[in-house]
Amino acid sequence: MKLDFTRMTKLAEGKTKAIYANPQDVKTVYMVFKDDITAGDGVKHDVIPGKAQVDWQTNCDLFAYLNRKGVKTHYIDAPAEQVALVRKLDFKINLEVVSRRVATGSILHWGKVEQGFRFDPLVTQFHYKDDPLHDPMLDEGYVSYLIGKGAREYQAMYEINQQVFLILEKAFSRFKIQLVDMKLEYGLIDGEVVLIDEITGGSFRLWPYAKENPNLHQSNVLKELDPSGRLDKDIYRMGGAVEDVLAKFKGIAAVTAAFASLD
Ligand SMILES: Nc1ncnc2c1ncn2[C@@H]1O[C@H](COP(=O)(O)OP(=O)(O)O)[C@@H](O)[C@H]1O
Ligand SMILES: [Mg+2]
Repeated sequence: MKLDFTRMTKLAEGKTKAIYANPQDVKTVYMVFKDDITAGDGVKHDVIPGKAQVDWQTNCDLFAYLNRKGVKTHYIDAPAEQVALVRKLDFKINLEVVSRRVATGSILHWGKVEQGFRFDPLVTQFHYKDDPLHDPMLDEGYVSYLIGKGAREYQAMYEINQQVFLILEKAFSRFKIQLVDMKLEYGLIDGEVVLIDEITGGSFRLWPYAKENPNLHQSNVLKELDPSGRLDKDIYRMGGAVEDVLAKFKGIAAVTAAFASLD
């Protein structure tokens, strides 16, 4: 389909995507991916030609897979390259909801947990999305207050976050990759909590298995995994060259393209 965005109304533009009104349908919008990449609450910023294309592909593969698995998402279709058609938000819930299976990153600063510690059940964190405030973590009562509704919406986000993590953890395991942690966003559409935004290389950490048959059911799984072979945005956070970042993201896209053939 030929889509002319110069003739459409831009509703929002963030760090990695622009949102356009769909002139044919007020209930849906177009999400257009950008080549920009940021880290450190937006302080680090680059443009990587080709990133929009791989992010778009990863995003569409993952959302199509989640839809097939019965998860409530905003994703409808990929009508053109770098474009996703999604259901329009009625209300954006300004949170990033994190799930963690394996301890790494910021959580290592919070007490005695060591890198590689395996969380079972998963850890879930609700963070207020605000770069200058460094995305502070919120408690359940305040999350419900933010949404202006009862505890039902909090519970729905909690459940969808766990459901998505378990579905994707299992899918990546088929390719000998561990889903380490992940952040997702939510909104309200027709009164219901729905998974929105994007799932791309910046949304999660992915560590390949270090051996053929790792023992992933012990309290610390660091030796079973290969963090140095990471496929995710940490390579950018750690100062990797933009070509290397793009190569890793292409690696993710090659894996998620194969999700279409999973049951
Ligand atoms: N289904 C949707 N309907 C309308 N807007 C959406 C939808 N999904 C995501 N958005 C919006 O897209 C915008 C751009 O996203 P992004 O570039 O990721 O922003 P940010 O820099 O805040 O992370 C955000 O304002 C986000 O709320
Ligand atoms: Mg974003």
